[in-house]
Amino acid sequence: MTTETLDRDRVRELFDLRGAYLAAMGGAYTDDPYPVWHRLREEKAVHEGTVHELTGYPGPAMFSGLPFPDRPHFSVFSYAACDEAYRNPDVFASSPEPVDPVHGEPGALNSMLSMGGVQHRRYRALVQPSFVPAKAQWWIRNWIEQTVHLLIDGFAGDGRAELNVDFCAAIPVLTITGSFGVPVEQALDIRAALRDPRRIIEMIAPIVAARRREPKDDLISILVQAEMTDEDGVVHRLSDAEINSFAFLLLAAGSGTTWKQMGITLTALLQRPSVLEEVRRDRKLLKPAIEESLRWMATDPMFSRYVMRDVDFHGVRLPAGSVLHLCIGAANRDPARWADPDTYDIHRPLRASFAFGGGAHVCLGMHVARAEMTVGLNALLDRLPGLRLDPDAEPPRFIGMYERGATEIPVVFS
Ligand code: HEM
Repeated sequence: MTTETLDRDRVRELFDLRGAYLAAMGGAYTDDPYPVWHRLREEKAVHEGTVHELTGYPGPAMFSGLPFPDRPHFSVFSYAACDEAYRNPDVFASSPEPVDPVHGEPGALNSMLSMGGVQHRRYRALVQPSFVPAKAQWWIRNWIEQTVHLLIDGFAGDGRAELNVDFCAAIPVLTITGSFGVPVEQALDIRAALRDPRRIIEMIAPIVAARRREPKDDLISILVQAEMTDEDGVVHRLSDAEINSFAFLLLAAGSGTTWKQMGITLTALLQRPSVLEEVRRDRKLLKPAIEESLRWMATDPMFSRYVMRDVDFHGVRLPAGSVLHLCIGAANRDPARWADPDTYDIHRPLRASFAFGGGAHVCLGMHVARAEMTVGLNALLDRLPGLRLDPDAEPPRFIGMYERGATEIPVVFS
């Protein structure tokens, strides 16, 4: 693999939170939402309205559970209320409609992300074995390690670099497309086409056909060979339509999130040189540094659920058909669960946060994401001595409403 074939300007266009691609998710939001979220949580657990409206951002801001202008919208900001919603999927479902991955439109709405109950368990079980912690080495060896080092080779001799786009953004997209057998030259076409599932399917169709003929050691091969038992006990292989929805979800979820979270972790450390030095000297601290960044600033601070029947929830009547937005960003700084929650503290006692969601839909790729961040950050610390923020460049800022991350991460090293 060579990263020469990765067009840096195009990476910038597709991964700049301020650019047109991410503007629809609230990329123009530049304030700090946490003070507002604290105030909202202190007032009451459940508010009427969407998270961005309640935060004072007029939009545009699209994400899961939006826009649905005809449904009533409610948002929750406490850890306890998010936890309760995650634990009760019969009332708070991931889709308002039945999900049909065989005949429905390909895309996230007909993928396991939107399924419930037995249907969700059956589909998730097909891919779960490729995403367990024990499989992390498979991902690292096959795709993550070489990507990370090739990217660093590209700037190690320069003494300076912009790490958000040229490094953090490139790793997850090359990892997930690599695991699909997509050539590097096409990796960015995939990212660009995520708004258009049909285009993605055109691109992966030849790979699906090739792996059906001759499986390899990759994810598409696992999907084409997977066997599923349906409600009637009949065992069958996945159809092309089912594989397409799976593939679309994995590409979308696997390429857009980890880069922003890696950038958040890196920025948090670079802004605190003594903590960065501590981590450099004792690499065991990298794990708590990553977990704390997930809690402190989850890149996707909101996921939604659909209310399936009238219910009284934390003192508010939620009508069937409404949408409940779980502000996991706010829940992760709930002082009822974490002391001094606004401080990025890598030594705090570890308690699970909702950065990867909760309940049955908890992020499938969380161990891959952790492996990418760990390998990436360790390699930077190993290979770039004296790594620090570039004192002459504009320092990174955190922006974005529903997709949060750093603007740019300009660094120098010796
Ligand atoms: C730091 C990076 C990541 C974050 C913060 C993140 C976050 C999340 C969250 C919050 C959910 C739950 C959504 C919901 O409840 O509606 C989720 C689900 C999911 N994520 Fe991730 N994710 C990350 C990386 C990845 C990666 C690298 C992959 C794949 C390689 C991935 C694949 C998935 C899939 C397939 C689901 C749906 C699981 C299901 O519905 O059962 N994610 N992710």
